[in-house]
Amino acid sequence: APDISLANIKAHLGQLETIARQNGGNRSASGGYAASVSYVEGKLRAAGYTVRRQTCTSCAGRTQNLVAEWPQGDANRVLMLGAHLDSVSAGPGINDNGSGSASILEVALTLARTNPAMAQRVRFAWWADEESGMRGSKFYVNSLSSAERAKITAYLNFDMIGSKNWGYFVYDDVASLKTVFDRYFASVGIQTEGDREGDGRSDHASFKSAGIPVGGLATGAGDVKTTAQQRKWGGTAGAAFDNCYHRACDTVANIPDAPLERNSDAIGYAVWQLATT
Ligand code: PHE
Ligand code: ZN
Ligand code: ZN
Ligand code: ZN
Repeated sequence: APDISLANIKAHLGQLETIARQNGGNRSASGGYAASVSYVEGKLRAAGYTVRRQTCTSCAGRTQNLVAEWPQGDANRVLMLGAHLDSVSAGPGINDNGSGSASILEVALTLARTNPAMAQRVRFAWWADEESGMRGSKFYVNSLSSAERAKITAYLNFDMIGSKNWGYFVYDDVASLKTVFDRYFASVGIQTEGDREGDGRSDHASFKSAGIPVGGLATGAGDVKTTAQQRKWGGTAGAAFDNCYHRACDTVANIPDAPLERNSDAIGYAVWQLATT
């Protein structure tokens, strides 16, 4: 798998923070959400993607999901990746969830640039209105016919993957998907744990409810790092993984390089393992 560029991800995050600043300090439906959609859409179109906006009529402000598929490989087998692009109204949402949004964007751009031989389709989604109950992803899953749902071989979710006092958590809903991520982390000498904090709390829940296999990564939100976890990963025991979770201080200054670099490369590894020939 190619390296996923940390510098490019950080550039996307800088743009998302600027968008928040220009829209009342956040990227919620009444703030910078629509401008965030336009930013991601513009990058995808420039790379050759066909991009679809889906108006989510059950979402606050009737905001839009953004969906783009790389048009190579077996159209009947779809590996899906998603991240919520909205923030809470309290702040710009750079870890939650600029981090996942910018990382899958850069994976999409890297796929287009390197153009590998594909075994399956890769479909990327940026969700509206996760923050008031995963409404964008629920709307999308409900919009699919059962035949379309059956083509999705797995849904991988990325929500908060650059926490300042990070841990390395891998969703353990489906063992075979966890194993793919764990193989990457083992190759760079990182121990992981199964994710508990995020269970049922992000967009993968919409897919899991529909019987679609789910996986994903997270670096922790408001939960407190234990001493054992500090020994494993460094950082500060007794402090939250992200003490700016859902706050105004969730800015680019809230995001260290290490977890963003590791997790984005882990996403690239998984996509290349699962979807290329
Ligand atoms: N990030 C989710 C939310 O937006 C909640 C969450 C918490 C997800 C912890 C994963 C882990 O707010
Ligand atoms: Zn990288
Ligand atoms: Zn949140
Ligand atoms: Zn989130």
